[in-house]
Amino acid sequence: MEKETKRNSFKGSIGFVLAAAGSAVGLGNIWRFPYLAARDGGGMFLVIYIVLALTFGFTLLITEVAIGRKTKQSPLTAYGKLHSKWKGMGIIACLIPAIILPYYCAIGGWVVKYLLVYITGHGEEAAQDGYFTSFISATGEPILLMLVFLLAVAFIVFRGVNKGIESCSKILMPILLVLVVIIAVFALTISHTDDSGVTRTGLQGLQIYLVPDFTDMTVARFFRVLLDAMGQLFFSLSVAMGIMIAYGSYVHDDANLKKSVNQIEIFDTAVAVLAGVMIIPAVYAFAGKEGMDASGPSLMFISLPKVFAAMGKIGNIVGILFFAMVLFAALTSAVSILEAIVSSFMDQFHISRVKAVSFETVIAVVMAVLVCLGYNRLYFEVKLPTGATAQILDILDYISNNLLMPVVAIGTCILIGWVVKPKTIIDEVEKTGCKMGRKQLYKVMIRFIAPVLLFILFLKSLGF
Ligand code: PHE
Repeated sequence: MEKETKRNSFKGSIGFVLAAAGSAVGLGNIWRFPYLAARDGGGMFLVIYIVLALTFGFTLLITEVAIGRKTKQSPLTAYGKLHSKWKGMGIIACLIPAIILPYYCAIGGWVVKYLLVYITGHGEEAAQDGYFTSFISATGEPILLMLVFLLAVAFIVFRGVNKGIESCSKILMPILLVLVVIIAVFALTISHTDDSGVTRTGLQGLQIYLVPDFTDMTVARFFRVLLDAMGQLFFSLSVAMGIMIAYGSYVHDDANLKKSVNQIEIFDTAVAVLAGVMIIPAVYAFAGKEGMDASGPSLMFISLPKVFAAMGKIGNIVGILFFAMVLFAALTSAVSILEAIVSSFMDQFHISRVKAVSFETVIAVVMAVLVCLGYNRLYFEVKLPTGATAQILDILDYISNNLLMPVVAIGTCILIGWVVKPKTIIDEVEKTGCKMGRKQLYKVMIRFIAPVLLFILFLKSLGF
């Protein structure tokens, strides 16, 4: 009991909102959202995404935050506290961040590398063919930079909920937002004439992004866009991996959960949409429509450096701002991943924060070294059910995102919708006297629509 009263908590709701938004805003917002939007009919994708955010996203996010606040437990122990037979769900929920952390830190190391490259004025080199591949296939540097990133994350989490997570989110998230806006505005001013004399502008790129494209609109295509938007939203909100339960457990009992959840979603969606305004016009102006065919690491570490190089001198400055922004996004996400595990260890084994952080950091270092070696000493190729060719990083990503996360999310819907009943969550949200709103929608969502949609997503991951 004493442990519970001593539990850390966020000082205020701004701290909570920014920390949770810090988790939600991550690499996915920057390297996947714009790509999907460009591929899936621009404005149409945006509209579907926003509608899903208000319904499906709202349901999943408020559920997890409320579970955290109600149980005052970390993911590992929260499910068991809600219902004694559901302890196992906590174990899977806690396993997911443990799988994600190592590869997220390996990518964090790549971001540090590119930031350093631009700070030292070597952006041109990063734009050359083969630069990225030769960087990740080296044995030393990626491991070293991964360690730098991971130790920074461990240090923030070690400082605790207030002095570490809350303070760093309060500083980094506003800066991140300002950087995204600056780069986005700059992207709109771009005009470029290529070797064949064709001029393309950033504003034309913006049109492709925002104007809905209904050509070849079929039911099948609509369904694909819907699934893309849902998969992206699901990953982007950092749900189904215990993070929002852990953060929710640090929220004061008198805080207005509904308002906070809305703010987190607005922040996350705004950054994703702005990332599109930042990336699509720039890529379109310098590389045309085909330039948008890349997503993920190849967009961030291969295509964009080429775009920055084509901008001339100013490209180096844009590169610095861009990778600083990405670094902040990745750092605050990685912090939330580590915190989900650390809080679980603290609650389950009643150990101190220092011990929990040290223990998990050692495990993450070992696994992350393996991830880095996956591009050289331990290189192999495997085909995933999704059709992609994978190395160690992709396999971990597949297991966590495509297999375990849908399982936890579906399980959470069943537990709340059918076992402990939606009223548990609604009462938790409304205990401060605030109205939850969208209550009927919430009930239908958590019991029927969300689990069915998640199940379809899960089947897609399995390759059906
Ligand atoms: N939600 C983050 C994004 O959109 C990613 C993330 C994954 C954060 C896993 C935490 C844990 O990029």
